[in-house]
Amino acid sequence: MFEYLQGQLHCEQVDLKTLAARYGTPAYIYSKNAILNHWNEYQQALNGIPNRVCYAVKANSNLAILATLARTGAGFDIVSGGELHRVLKAGGDPASVVFSGVGKTAREISFALDQGIHSFNCESETEIALISQIASSNKRTASIALRVNPDVNAKTHPYISTGLREHKFGVDIASAEDIYQRAAHLPGITAEGVSCHIGSQLLEIDPLLEAADKTLALVARLRAAGLPIRFLDLGGGLGVQYRPNERAASITEFAARLRPKLESLNLTLMLEPGRSIVAEAGILLTQVLLIKQNGEKTFVVVDGAMNDLLRPALYQAHHEILPVEEAPTSLKMTADVVGPVCETGDFFARDRRLPALKAGDLIALRTAGAYGFVLSSNYNSRPRPCELLIDGRRVFVARTRETFDDLTRGESVP
Ligand code: LLP
Repeated sequence: MFEYLQGQLHCEQVDLKTLAARYGTPAYIYSKNAILNHWNEYQQALNGIPNRVCYAVKANSNLAILATLARTGAGFDIVSGGELHRVLKAGGDPASVVFSGVGKTAREISFALDQGIHSFNCESETEIALISQIASSNKRTASIALRVNPDVNAKTHPYISTGLREHKFGVDIASAEDIYQRAAHLPGITAEGVSCHIGSQLLEIDPLLEAADKTLALVARLRAAGLPIRFLDLGGGLGVQYRPNERAASITEFAARLRPKLESLNLTLMLEPGRSIVAEAGILLTQVLLIKQNGEKTFVVVDGAMNDLLRPALYQAHHEILPVEEAPTSLKMTADVVGPVCETGDFFARDRRLPALKAGDLIALRTAGAYGFVLSSNYNSRPRPCELLIDGRRVFVARTRETFDDLTRGESVP
């Protein structure tokens, strides 16, 4: 969906140069049809398996994106009351919302119960007790799943690996049966699901299948003990291609290898994909302010910064850089691409081979649709970028660029 047409990089049928002139930079640009294609890939791959796919709102929570997915019947995976507010505002169906997260407040739990969400993925016995107490005092029944930790090595960046015993997430799978037994006696809840999420940006499917095997064995043991387990939530995590030599994890392959394991189990499979739906559908468009030479090093200083896209600074993440104007392959430079923020960590790329860039050129940081805008901040009092959703030739302003007044909203001078 991001391709060169007549030498100019386009998103669908809109050229990025025109967007920069009209809406300014830095700007997040999303392809609506890329999002829908990724969503449909899940639907096709899971065809025939009873399933509920809940888009992980944290990956990109813009209302326009949530609404796009809600209209195709998506469910949503949320981790806060704020995310539930967004889902409702975007027209999402609360009955297809799962509430994940390691620390939910009583207020968030009440809000979610009032809205009638599908279920809670609980991460501790204390949380189960709290949900039971709140639900029963409001004469409600909450459906819950326990998030278990299958102790699988997800082989991803340590900050986004979550499935090992030493991580803060979930409970040890070995103690799960006792917790389910005790939960069965609590009022206001039905423990009818098992959930897990072993990490994010997984390029290999094997760890996910290993987690499936371990959680399915738990489902069998729980059912044998008389517990009415109806769904298995395997979380999100399928990785996307950030580097040219990487290969995205295939949902089709994952579903094909999962299918025989689920046959005739009468179990609904739930998934919580975030990145694999939106990452490749977005870019961050930024303009070169100047080229600076310090000794041996060349710096391309751009108007976007770590406050706009934090992933390189936080995870040493790689984002491919494309010039908006298609460049002759012969002209090359090796440079660091950096932003104006006062931090050495404010870089988008280091020692990267790039086309020869000059002040005023536009570049696109690829695969920025997931964990891009949502991790942005106003650090250095920088107004956050606008977000544009492209559908064919149409441009929808999904979020306007922040103004200086936005920066001080809610503050006052004593
Ligand atoms: N479900 C749970 C319980 C999660 O914790 C996550 C992501 C997901 C689903 C969605 O995972 P996905 O399909 O997107 O891999 N900021 C980091 C990623 C953090 C992921 C946190 N949890 C990054 O930029 O790489």
